[in-house]
Amino acid sequence: MKLTDAEQAMYDGHDGRAVARAMDLLVRYGQALGAERLVDTSNVAGTVVSPSPRKLEMVREGGFEKAFSELNLDSDETVEVPRARVYTCQLIQTFGADTAHLHNGSRELMTLQSDAERFFGSRGVHLMSTCTPYQVGNVPVKGEHCAWMESSAVVYCNSVLGAMTNTEGTESTGAASLTGKIPYWGYHLPDNRFGTHLVDIQIHVDDMMDWGLLGYYVGEIVQDEIPVLDGMWSQPELVKLKHFGAAASSSGGVEMYHIPGITPEAPTLESAFGGREPVATITYGARERRIAYENLNSSATDQDVDFVMLGCPHNSVEQIWRAAKLLDGKRLHDGTQLWMHTPRALREVADRSGYTKIVEDAGGHIMSDSCPAISRVVPPGTKVVATDSAKQAHYLPAISGLQTWFGSVEDCVGAALTGRWSGGLR
Ligand code: F3S
Repeated sequence: MKLTDAEQAMYDGHDGRAVARAMDLLVRYGQALGAERLVDTSNVAGTVVSPSPRKLEMVREGGFEKAFSELNLDSDETVEVPRARVYTCQLIQTFGADTAHLHNGSRELMTLQSDAERFFGSRGVHLMSTCTPYQVGNVPVKGEHCAWMESSAVVYCNSVLGAMTNTEGTESTGAASLTGKIPYWGYHLPDNRFGTHLVDIQIHVDDMMDWGLLGYYVGEIVQDEIPVLDGMWSQPELVKLKHFGAAASSSGGVEMYHIPGITPEAPTLESAFGGREPVATITYGARERRIAYENLNSSATDQDVDFVMLGCPHNSVEQIWRAAKLLDGKRLHDGTQLWMHTPRALREVADRSGYTKIVEDAGGHIMSDSCPAISRVVPPGTKVVATDSAKQAHYLPAISGLQTWFGSVEDCVGAALTGRWSGGLR
């Protein structure tokens, strides 16, 4: 790999041992990928704060320096952790101590997370603690090179914002935060960003549930290729695109898509494909929508719901407001829990707007920092879940062995109020 003089100096240790170890990691990683060079980035979204049993052991042995060196820099040598060189934000982590009374999550890990927040906050990591950094101020511009983790954030970054990132990992984002560099390959190259599959949409794709179903179906077919959605009948907004991308990246590995006339790199259908022919055309109609719905609901048989989860990817304020309106003046069914997940910064807005009080008066909770799939934390005794998220419905049965119903926000709030699942395709 070719390094500039400045990169070579970092590699040789002119900026300290941590930066040298970070450069060593990036060079090894880039060589394995076949990248010829690095590219500058000033936008990193990774995870340095998230706790785990392994990290707990390392911190006990050698502090956060040892944990960061091994887990974020892949370095046997323990190095001092300097301040981040470029804008770096923390993605999702586990639940914070403020929710400890709601679940049986590990107290040790919560304490580790609080300690990590203090340590890495002092090193310049912005503690957004959400899988949707683009909802709370991290909004890179078109063409900006980023180093982001988290599949639902990556697909939003590439497709809706037109910024450029691969799906990075704990190590590469740790190294990028100290160097402002990332290997130049994959979605950083303009030629790799054109559509591959044409999706011919023949039905009205309307609400969030529809967009989740469309994403789930398309992702399963195209896997890690780039779908181009054609036949859009209504203007999608942030929430719908957020759900489409999250679903497509969980049933497949979609990191980028185009919607001609809507997403920034596809002013026309032709430009979405870069003048090339699609490798295949996928039809999406009522039959395909039903297949996606049945696949997502295949784990559930018991209609008694004990836990309703909304907010994967993390809810916007608008989503909290809509759910609060459905709950206003009502009470949850005895024995059914409702958790709504949102970035902590948006929880503050929900608090000030009175939405949190409506949700809590009904018996629900607004939670920040994490989600059940990542934290492996659900209310004690949960067996049957209902969720409005295709991504969460995809992962929860596999991760936690829970029966999981997928449906609209209205179906899910209805289940929270009655304790019964009565959702279905309209
Ligand atoms: Fe976010 Fe957890 Fe869903 S990380 S996208 S809420 S699985």
